[in-house]
Amino acid sequence: MDKRKKVSLLDKDILVVYYTYTGKTEVFAKELRAYGIRTLSIDESSVVNEPFILVTPTYSFGEVPKTVLAFLENNSDNLKAVMSSGNRNWGGNFAIAGDIVSKTYGVQLIGKFEMNGNKSDVEKLVSYIKGVDNH
Ligand SMILES: Cc1cc2nc3c(=O)[nH]c(=O)nc-3n(C[C@H](O)[C@H](O)[C@H](O)COP(=O)(O)O)c2cc1C
Repeated sequence: MDKRKKVSLLDKDILVVYYTYTGKTEVFAKELRAYGIRTLSIDESSVVNEPFILVTPTYSFGEVPKTVLAFLENNSDNLKAVMSSGNRNWGGNFAIAGDIVSKTYGVQLIGKFEMNGNKSDVEKLVSYIKGVDNH
């Protein structure tokens, strides 16, 4: 089944889970909350028993953070889409964690953003959740 279609059919209240190490993704999540989106900061032992969208930074020369990998090992059944962050200074590895998660789990990569993200990055995810994005 096409998980992208599944997401657009979900209720508009889907949970956004995120990982942050140095706090930049937390700033992004705070902006999402300002739009009324529910968010949850995860660690390796988090358990999420409902559909969710993952927001993850990229670390260690183009890798998905180990904490996120451990989280997904237990929770990937409920993963519906991913958005990733990073820094363009990392060139071809920019926000590549999103590509890896998308490919590994067969879910849509909604987009990539730098550092805290900007208004348009936040609105991209909000639009996706509201189902008005062209997906
Ligand atoms: C050791 C280290 C490795 C990183 N590796 C990458 C990378 O491979 N690709 C990328 O796009 N960003 C990379 N970054 C940048 C982070 O993904 C970026 O700063 C992100 O916004 C951090 O999110 P956080 O503050 O929520 O942890 C790296 C940062 C550090 C400190």
